[in-house]
Formats: sequence, C-alpha cells, structure tokens
Amino acid sequence: MSAGPSRARSDELHRRAAGLMPGGVNSPVRAMRSIGRDPLYIAAGEGAELIDVDGTRYVDYVCSWGPLIAGHAHPRVVDAVTAAASRGTSYGAPTEREVEIAAAIAERVPSAEMVRMVNSGTEASMSAVRLARAATGRDKLLKFAGAYHGHVDGLLADAGSGLATAGIPASPGVPAAQAAATIVVPWNDRGAVERALDEHEVAAILAEPYPANMGLVPPAGATGIEGGAAGPSFLAFLREQADANGALLVFDEVISGFRVGPGGAQELEGVTPDLTILGKVIGGGLPAAAYAGRRDLMERVAPAGDVYQAGTLSGNPLATAAGLATLELLDGAAYGRLDATATALADGLRAAAAEAGVPVHVTHTTGLLTLFFHDGPVDDYAAARQCDLDRFAAFARAMLDRGVYLPPSQFEAWFPSLVHTDAHGERTLAAAREALRQVAS
Ligand SMILES: Cc1ncc(COP(=O)(O)O)c(C=O)c1O
Repeated sequence: MSAGPSRARSDELHRRAAGLMPGGVNSPVRAMRSIGRDPLYIAAGEGAELIDVDGTRYVDYVCSWGPLIAGHAHPRVVDAVTAAASRGTSYGAPTEREVEIAAAIAERVPSAEMVRMVNSGTEASMSAVRLARAATGRDKLLKFAGAYHGHVDGLLADAGSGLATAGIPASPGVPAAQAAATIVVPWNDRGAVERALDEHEVAAILAEPYPANMGLVPPAGATGIEGGAAGPSFLAFLREQADANGALLVFDEVISGFRVGPGGAQELEGVTPDLTILGKVIGGGLPAAAYAGRRDLMERVAPAGDVYQAGTLSGNPLATAAGLATLELLDGAAYGRLDATATALADGLRAAAAEAGVPVHVTHTTGLLTLFFHDGPVDDYAAARQCDLDRFAAFARAMLDRGVYLPPSQFEAWFPSLVHTDAHGERTLAAAREALRQVAS
C-alpha cells in the first residue's frame, strides 16, 4: 500500500468506472496499470498543476499528453474558446479561423504548402497514409518499431505508447492484409531500411522524426535533441532513401509539431518530408489535428482531387480558436522557456540518479524529455524495452506520492509547459532525489 495522499473519492469513481468503461477509462495508458496504480480522477487543472477529486495537487508533466503546451486553463485560450462558443459550437461550413489556422501552419511548418484539418492524430495518420497510397499507386508502408501513429489498423504493428506499455505487439481485429502491408524496421537502423526498400515497393516511409512513444529516442546525428547517437543524420538518410525508391517521406509530428520549435523537428533538422501529420498542440487542448504537405499531393484530396476524406466536426470553431490562441503564445521567448525547463530537469535528473547510484539515460529537447531506467544509450525500441520497468513503476508511484504526476509509462515522454516555473522544477527534482533513493534500495 502506498503512503500517498487520500484517494477515497477517486477509488469510489474507479469502482463505478470499471463496470461502465473498458478498464474504467477512455484511453488505455490513463489506467496506470503498468505502474500498479488506479487512475487519477481529475477535478481541475490550473496552469502546470492538476487537482484530483480528492483535493490532491500534482505538478503535471502529462499535460493531456502534449496538447497543453500553455498549461491548463490558460486565460488566453479560455477566453478564445469562450468567445467562440458564444457564437456557435459548430457550423459544418467554412470559417475565417480555418483559413487563419491553415495559414499559421503553412507559415511555420516547412513542408506544409496546403493543410487539411481533422479531429485526431489517428485520423490525420489514416488520411495521410491513404493519400500516400493514392499518390504512389503502392500499398505497403515502412514504419519503425516503437513508433506510434494512432490506432490505425495497419500502423499498430510493434507500436509504442499504450501498446508498448501493455506489452501488446499487435492488436487482434487487424485484417491480415493490413498487417502484411506494414513493414516494421528498427529505428536508426540504416541497413534494415535499405534491405526493406530493396525487397518491397513502399508508398511511404512513415516516421516520428523525434520519436516519443517509446520514450524520447533521438534520430542518430540529430542536432536539435540531446542524448542520441552521433554520426550522419538518420533523417537525411530517410529522405534520400525515399527519393531513391519512389516512396514518400511522411513525418508524424503530432508530438513534436509546434513543441520542439515553430516548424517542428523537420525545421530543426533541416529535412523536409512530403507530408506531415500534426495534432496535439494545434488543437490547444480541444480535438484538432491536421495533415499537410506538398501542394501537388494535397491537391489530390477531395474536393480538389479524388482521394476522399471528410469530417462533420473538422475545423471546428472552438478547436481552431484554442489552436490559434495557443500558437500566438509560442514566440521565441516561449521556446527559450520550454528549452530551459527541459534542460534543467534533464540535468537535475541525471545528477539525482548518479547521487542515488541508479543507472539512467536521459534524453531531452525543447519541451520533451525521458528518464530511461537503462544503463547505456537508448537508440531504438529494443533498447527501450530493456529498461528496468519495475524500477520505473516504483519511481513513478513514488513521484505521485510526492505530488508529481509523470506519464505513467516508461514508453512516453514528459511534457513540460510554458507555465512550469523554476519552483515547479525544484519541487520535481527534490521529489526525484527522494524517489530515486527509494528505488535504489
Ligand atoms: C506521434 C503520434 N501520432 C499520432 C497519435 C495519435 O493521435 P490521437 O491520440 O489524437 O489520435 C499520437 C498520440 O499520442 C502520437 O503521439
């Protein structure tokens, strides 16, 4: 039994939830099973903090799994959504803000000449894959082990995030033909990419340029992220391989988009994909996502072209209001702040682990970090899976008991926000020093 805060109301809700929803939740990782805990039931979010239904406050490094780069209930975002709601919650017809958000995306993201808004990252991935298949006339896809692109049938093989957390290598219910059309290779493995492309004609190489669903695992040779392997750029290699083999390069920047910098990982690394998948930050905490890319490709999408894709709530006025208000907050100073926060946490965690004698590997970039319980570098999913998961679970529980809410899985990244202060950082590191000493013993 944990000596943490009272959970009476949370426990009562969880008992009810368990009979009403699979696992008591609407998305698997929230259930916290991999760290041996029941879920938090949230009453409110305030800036960088969450308050649960038992009145316990937590410093929040989940931030809704990435969308809340401005923290909870940021006044500018709340005002924008409230004003939008008072004028109607959905029209199913175009609005000025949809034009503005498309322009804001095109201005920031190097590959985005044209944009289509959808409602979730899953929908964006599914739609980008359809477009890539239509454009190339090929069915197969190349993806990386440990990457997560949403719960699209063909993309679940060897996926990260919740599947990694639950130890599920592939989901039942995926048609065999869909599974067979997905070729999975290890991240950062040039030879495996070359062999796969020799053997199969693929429509697209699909990659998270800064993979964050097996923990944050940098591409080799990256300049905008700390903790990865040196050497020539793996992302530039993927660009060359796609071009040499008649495949499209699709970057899934659902996590990295607008978080690691205005133009995402593609801008930081100077590698421009053909199509980009966006989500999370672009909706500012409301359901919005997008796919974007080269004009000639995007003009294949209906009604400009013949590749069908539609959505009742796509470009929703509340979601575009939240997204635009969030993007407006993300100036140079904001990215400086996000970078300083992640760097201070990464340095402090390394020092605390060394002091406690716990072997770890820490990766970080602007607005993202992962503390791997692994003695040595983590360059791919196989290495991430060698982490000491029991130790991770004990650490995550010990942090919760000290009022710090981390992603409850080794296979996720921490999401600091603009409103995490130095005091939050110090509180987090003080908790981490104690938690690491506890897990060392
Ligand atoms: C890189 C990446 N792509 C796609 C998705 C799917 O997005 P959604 O959960 O909005 O469907 C996620 C979700 O975490 C993600 O991290």
